[in-house]
Amino acid sequence: MEEDPRNGKATHHHYHHPHTPKKPRLIQFISEPEIRQEFSHHQSGVARINNGSFGSCPGSVLDAQKKWQLRFLQQPDDFCFNTLKKGILESRTVIKNLINADNVDDVSLVDNATTAAAIVLQHIGRQFAEGKFQKNDTVIMFHCAYQAVKKSIQAYVTPVGGSVIQVQLPFPVNSNEEIIREFRKGLERGKANGGRVRLAILDHITSMPSVVIPVCELIKICREECVDQVFVDGAHAIGSVLVDVKEIGADFYVSNLYKWFFSPPSVAFLYCGNSGIKCDVHHPVVSHEYGNGLPTESAWVGARDYSPQLVVPSILEFVNRFEGGIQGIMERNHDQVVKMGKMLAESWGTNLGSPPEMCASMIMVGLPARLCVTSEDDAIRLRSHLRVYHGIEVPVYYQAMKKGDSGPKDKDGCITGYVRISHQVYNTAEDYFKLRDAINQLLEDHNVCKMLPLEQKS
Ligand SMILES: Cc1ncc(COP(=O)(O)O)c(C=O)c1O
Repeated sequence: MEEDPRNGKATHHHYHHPHTPKKPRLIQFISEPEIRQEFSHHQSGVARINNGSFGSCPGSVLDAQKKWQLRFLQQPDDFCFNTLKKGILESRTVIKNLINADNVDDVSLVDNATTAAAIVLQHIGRQFAEGKFQKNDTVIMFHCAYQAVKKSIQAYVTPVGGSVIQVQLPFPVNSNEEIIREFRKGLERGKANGGRVRLAILDHITSMPSVVIPVCELIKICREECVDQVFVDGAHAIGSVLVDVKEIGADFYVSNLYKWFFSPPSVAFLYCGNSGIKCDVHHPVVSHEYGNGLPTESAWVGARDYSPQLVVPSILEFVNRFEGGIQGIMERNHDQVVKMGKMLAESWGTNLGSPPEMCASMIMVGLPARLCVTSEDDAIRLRSHLRVYHGIEVPVYYQAMKKGDSGPKDKDGCITGYVRISHQVYNTAEDYFKLRDAINQLLEDHNVCKMLPLEQKS
């Protein structure tokens, strides 16, 4: 197992950010007890090693959010006329600096990545409907693109004539080259189809299985191969990898702020710096500001709670209490998740799903073959067993056996199950020891996933 490239050395190349805004010098960084206090609303006794799904929001940011909500309720008219726009502009400016965008007008705040996907795919759908794109033209993406994004294609693009090319993401994966090779094959299929590839959808960090995708390299290839537009789904990105939109060079880039950037639910930014397409991009909820540009449209989508959009400067204050700010947080999360992933893989006699340099703050760890994760249902059984009986929150992934039996193996057979572990500032090594012991207990008791109930009372 030692020589497996997936178990290589941890590196930090996702994190070096030449454009990180200067942080104020603090005398003292946040202490361990202060971190515990910030997350004291988390239910005690639960090992939350699934920050990737719903993120986390510290108490000080929740307090700031409450203040914004009260300001609105104190004098709503004044708030809407004089405060709201300015506040959202300030948040967008923080994001603009963080992602190295040229212009604050390239940055919109929306509810979540799903909303951003609707914005992009409705825009693509209109090109088909208006005859600018033709019937044989395609959208290309990896097969593990997020389900909600695929449904948006089904809703907005395929009914008006667009077709879809799905590229199989190699997993477990050893190198970026394996991913690049498959993607190139997908582009060839697009051309063979006789049409043009109009949109590439690339996850920056895939959800399940979780791998950091070499988006810069793939976008370069897209440009060489004349793909019209590129949408990067960076739902998991900001706060876990470097996001430099200039270096990445996509037409659209979305990232949730609530997953790894400590915002309350729910806010995401959508970057669009391409002036040629900006004028045809609209929020799916049309309101008073329709036609005034996406950032302005998105800043008023009817009466609602805008506090998640307004707390972004308070989030920056929170992350700057940590050594190295958000970059320091990313690096330490990465180091810890790799360390814990290796600890688990060693205890279970399995492998990581990718080399450490292809992961950020989440990593896939193989489950022992003896547990027999042989279907999606088995993965759900195990996930709820861990939650209900052990107080562990962790997603489980089922990977069907490869043809020719070429997949990874442990001493008992093929590895077909993985856990996706996350690390965030509130996690401790005990959270992962709990997972290690729960799985080892199942093995000791000669349990296999089929023996666990599918529905479990919580
Ligand atoms: C890759 C990816 N895209 C999109 C989404 C959707 O995010 P949201 O539910 O915030 O819209 C997720 C959520 O986990 C995701 O992992």
